[in-house]
Amino acid sequence: MCGIVGYVGPRDCSDVLVSALTKLEYRGYDSAGIAVFENNAIKVAKSKGRLTDLTKKMQKEGKPIGHAGIGHTRWATHGEPSDINSHPHSGKRVTLVHNGIIENYKEIKQFLMSNDRRGFLSDTDTEVVAQLLDFYYDGDPIRAIRKMLHEVRGSFALGIIFADRPDTVYAVRCESPLIVGQGSGEAFIASDVPAIIQYTKNYYLLDHGEIAVLKNGIASFCDLHGRMVEKELKTADWDEDSAEKGEYEHFMIKEIHEQPTAVKTTITPRIENGMPDLSECGITPDMLRGYQRIFIVACGTAMHAGMVGKYVIERLARVPVTVDMASEFRYRDPLLSEEDLVVIISQSGETADSKEALNLSKRLGAKTLAVVNVKGSSIAREADMVIYTHAGPEIAVASTKAYLVQLSVMYLLAFEMAYANGKLSEEECRRLTASLVATPAAIAKTIDDLVDDCQYISTKLITADSLLYIGRGLDYALSMEGSLKLKEISYIHSESYAAGELKHGTISLIVDGMPVIAVATQNTLLEKTVSNIKEVKSRGAMTIVVCDELSSIDPEAADYIIRVPRIEEVLMPMVAAIPLQLLAYYTSVNKGNDVDKPRNLAKSVTVE
Ligand code: F6R
Repeated sequence: MCGIVGYVGPRDCSDVLVSALTKLEYRGYDSAGIAVFENNAIKVAKSKGRLTDLTKKMQKEGKPIGHAGIGHTRWATHGEPSDINSHPHSGKRVTLVHNGIIENYKEIKQFLMSNDRRGFLSDTDTEVVAQLLDFYYDGDPIRAIRKMLHEVRGSFALGIIFADRPDTVYAVRCESPLIVGQGSGEAFIASDVPAIIQYTKNYYLLDHGEIAVLKNGIASFCDLHGRMVEKELKTADWDEDSAEKGEYEHFMIKEIHEQPTAVKTTITPRIENGMPDLSECGITPDMLRGYQRIFIVACGTAMHAGMVGKYVIERLARVPVTVDMASEFRYRDPLLSEEDLVVIISQSGETADSKEALNLSKRLGAKTLAVVNVKGSSIAREADMVIYTHAGPEIAVASTKAYLVQLSVMYLLAFEMAYANGKLSEEECRRLTASLVATPAAIAKTIDDLVDDCQYISTKLITADSLLYIGRGLDYALSMEGSLKLKEISYIHSESYAAGELKHGTISLIVDGMPVIAVATQNTLLEKTVSNIKEVKSRGAMTIVVCDELSSIDPEAADYIIRVPRIEEVLMPMVAAIPLQLLAYYTSVNKGNDVDKPRNLAKSVTVE
């Protein structure tokens, strides 16, 4: 969603803002803008389109020159993408950028209009806040911001400058993410750490309702009541390179290659003497024994990781697991009790629906566990317990490494819970844990072995109008993710379907040449899946079968076979995910799409 940046310091502010915004491009946007103090006056430049469009415009019309300012990439919610609707927006003495949603903007607009404030230029909720702040502004910025916060409802973050407070940037966080970077003699605001990592690794996390003031290169803070707040300075544990493409053409392929390391870094600290041990996350065997039911709640790819979690936890630990999309869960009046565990999975830790699902679960008395990648994010901070995945920053909109580390946490949880519940012997648990420890090597080999094959097979997919992913059991759970990956970046329609369910309706869609990708890694189900593959093949489908290196597949059933290493059956999604990611990636590349920033999508979905 939208990205906010701000800067106060000795560098050329416009350059810093544009460069920091470039690092937030992954969040998704359709317009961009900056506002900078130039000779004590605020100069604004904004444009529909990409940051390159903004840069071109500034080359033509003159770039604001100064040392303090704010910037924004907008993902349109209120009003179409246009120059006018782009941020920053201004009242007479106030200019601001905004991420999130102002729920009661219509009422506020009404209030302002009835107080003779009529000059609204855009369709945005943001401009209404700028006008409201201006309405309250009596020369004291903090007082005006506090008054504004009392009136405005929603989840949002703002970067603000006041015309008569040159070279000072104000920022406020209400739910939506915002960090404040502190360099030497310079300070920053940003929606996410990658924006500032090229300048400083040191940052503060703004809490809900806190206001930051950046002046003379130093950040200071106060709370909703105007009281000064001392905050802990944090240090990002990854370097500038992790937010750069390096030798790779796209972030997505870089992140696919980072998966062995990401999985290793995620599981290693959670294994003690060959056994799963989540105690560093505050989770003990006693706790795991106590839950009657588990709910896994998440969105998109994270929800698909939860589907794998369901199969594995139920199979090994014999505890019933329900998987819900967060957007459904929050409105379906779920039946939860104190004996239930709700697991929220989220890469960003800021997804609006997942956050609300977490709040609801807490209100209903369930214990909550967050599986989150971004340190200090809202979901991580608000859940009772958190298991951090250590994927490092995921920049490509299409999630790959975050998915695989989420899977590895699902396995750790399932193994420890199964052992705690007495459903898995120590020997079995050690064996499975050792197999999990061996997966990074198997993942690395799978990537090396399959890049060329997947690149080739993807050329057979680019002309398809629609395709199907099929599988049974864990393969079905994985095929959901394969299908999402393909459709989000290749723009080819695709569905995942339980293979055994095909003949109850969906098989009528099969026409000559339609690609069907069958995931067939579960040996106990192989024969049945192969029969389903033959059913579609005999009706004209072009079949691509993903199976392990040892399975014998009737050559008549498959046009193409993609073989992955045979590892423990329950762990097969850890390697079988790779060809699905690579097929999606190369199909998108071959179609000439913007792989890392697919149309209409945002990396972090912070609005409902
Ligand atoms: C797809 C993708 C999305 C996210 C979903 C949840 O590749 O990345 O489906 O998985 O928006 O996001 P997080 O995990 O940040 O809650």
